[in-house]
Amino acid sequence: MTDTNFTPRVFSGIKPSGGLQLGNYLGAIKRFVGMQGQMETVYCVVDMHAITVWQDPAELANATREVAAGYLAAGLDPSKSILFNQSQVAAHAELGWIFNCVARVGWMNRMTQFKDKAGSNVEKQSLGLYAYPALMAADILLYHATHVPVGEDQKQHVELTRDIAKKFNHDYKVDFFPKTTPVIDGPATRVMNLRDGTKKMSKSGESDMERINMTDDADKIAKKFKKAKTDPEPLPETVDGLADRPEARNLVEIYASLNDATPADVINEYAGAQWGRFKPALADLAVAKLAPISTEMARYMDDPAEIDRILGDGAGRARAIAEPILRKTYDIVGMLRS
Ligand code: TRP
Repeated sequence: MTDTNFTPRVFSGIKPSGGLQLGNYLGAIKRFVGMQGQMETVYCVVDMHAITVWQDPAELANATREVAAGYLAAGLDPSKSILFNQSQVAAHAELGWIFNCVARVGWMNRMTQFKDKAGSNVEKQSLGLYAYPALMAADILLYHATHVPVGEDQKQHVELTRDIAKKFNHDYKVDFFPKTTPVIDGPATRVMNLRDGTKKMSKSGESDMERINMTDDADKIAKKFKKAKTDPEPLPETVDGLADRPEARNLVEIYASLNDATPADVINEYAGAQWGRFKPALADLAVAKLAPISTEMARYMDDPAEIDRILGDGAGRARAIAEPILRKTYDIVGMLRS
């Protein structure tokens, strides 16, 4: 699967829209930080993607800093990874345009995320929301990224990225863009709502009790896990016993992910346990792992100038990779530059 003609490089992005929650941490940030040091890693706060739906300007800037603070608090080391916000590197928009001209309308019409988000209101959506996956392909291919850690919901967009790279290479008779591999692993790539295990945990749900925010302090984290919805049965004897029990499965997967273990390890330890035993253990584990991160995030958020400095420095390093690739793309396409 991996394209070995290109130097391995990781790219991924998180949208700054609303606060960060546990799903962003376990499904994205924690995994991204874990790839640091294994190969070159480039992480982006994708503010240009965020405005595909309306964002209040002051809140957007704040949310951009909050995502950056989340990465840093979770262990992203700016000397090992490039961390920047997308709009500081103009090449994303420029390559995004080229890819708008490579991608076909029929491909975009198959994107399930657009259909889900637009619902029956397609006519009222921004053109940007529809074109978003072509910009995402540009984010990735601007760095010739070979590996893209994402959640299951983004797999289709990474496949589209491969299709765009393939069509570009084919149409212009070059071998210029790599075939990108989506990296989807870990037990909790999909963290579910604590009050309804059939819905994804999201930053926009009505009740704060249904999600763990990355800014929640120890008391809140413990309280939310202790009050999480469950069914009346004790934990099963095997992982298969979790199949039709969405809430139980979610809590076991969260435990496993926080503890760098598998759901089977957790079931081994807690087979047949009552919730009165498992939930406090989960709450303690979550507090031990997450409270230090929320404390560190708050420390960064008290020093926005430092966050801005890190993002600015990262943008400079990102441009150093992106601009030569964009220039070469322009040459291939036949854009005259004088
Ligand atoms: N579309 C991704 C999401 O909604 C965010 C994203 C934008 C991204 N550009 C990317 C992820 C490039 C990986 C690579 O979660």
